[in-house]
Amino acid sequence: MNKFNELISWSKDSYAHLPWRKRRSLYHTLVSEIMLQQTTVGTVLNHFERFIELYPDVETLAKSTEDEVCIAWKGLGYYRRARNLRKAAIDICEHFDGEIPLSYEDLTSIKGVGEYTANAILSIGEDKKALAIDANLERILSRIFGIKEKKGLKLQKKLKSKFVNGELAFGRIKSYRELNESLMDLGRVLCQARKTDCAICPLRTICIANKSNDPLAYPETPQAKVKKYYQLELLRAVVIKGNKVLGYEKSQDEWLAGQVELPTFVVKSDDSNFKGYPKWNNDFNSDVSIKTSITKYKIVNHIQEFEKKELPKNSTYKYYELDPLKVNFATATLKVLKKINVIK
Ligand code: ADE
Repeated sequence: MNKFNELISWSKDSYAHLPWRKRRSLYHTLVSEIMLQQTTVGTVLNHFERFIELYPDVETLAKSTEDEVCIAWKGLGYYRRARNLRKAAIDICEHFDGEIPLSYEDLTSIKGVGEYTANAILSIGEDKKALAIDANLERILSRIFGIKEKKGLKLQKKLKSKFVNGELAFGRIKSYRELNESLMDLGRVLCQARKTDCAICPLRTICIANKSNDPLAYPETPQAKVKKYYQLELLRAVVIKGNKVLGYEKSQDEWLAGQVELPTFVVKSDDSNFKGYPKWNNDFNSDVSIKTSITKYKIVNHIQEFEKKELPKNSTYKYYELDPLKVNFATATLKVLKKINVIK
């Protein structure tokens, strides 16, 4: 039996239950593929079906507001994807009559749909001959076919042209949908970047990296830079009025654009360039704090209740209903409000 068909059987036996595989549509593929970029299958599993209940089709998504979509996206992170997904839906309604198009050129003309997503829609969504090469496929294809190159765009391009020219020998494959999905499962489960389970891999007998006895040597990985974190201490001011809380919306050119935060001040920072919040120049006496992290910052958030008049004047401050389903609160803000039992 063709080993790739063995791989496909393995994948179907274990992962056919994933909700975006059980009920298929191009729209479900678009949404799941955008969610699965930068987010694990486990996390997407917790959010996909609820998102689809709220936005069952392209039209509904196109008619939503950006805030609504970002609220439905809570827990998935990287909100630019949510904003782009909504813009993609608007684009599809305006330019393609609400139908997701099926040519590579049309797909990549849509806002937020790049090469990877277009190929995923073609192969997984429509079972066309295409290969959605992301970092996972780059890694496992370089291992299976023994292509020892540096990880990166150049290797991805090389794999793409080999695929187009028929040089990647997948043999008689019945379905490119199944091929793509099973390769993705392989990369996620058995053939990870720093850990392989070759002994139980369906492709072990044909995999060149496995035969080399050093599968992790493929693809070549540049020495990882040690990530440098900055320590940040913030004061999160909580001003409650009735069932509302004082906050402000982050402007479009800041991080967390469009999300609502509590009045927040920098108490201490070892990144002298940090400009995310104004400095706090007075004393404070918070006795509750929580730790969060975002990008390169490890943050201690000191939490303290204030009266509005105790805070520096700021014309962007407004009172927001304490309802996370209606207000696009930033994740750290939600954590702070939960910590002090203001919301559940
Ligand atoms: N990662 C990216 N796309 C995926 C998919 N369709 N199934 C599982 N993992 C994935």
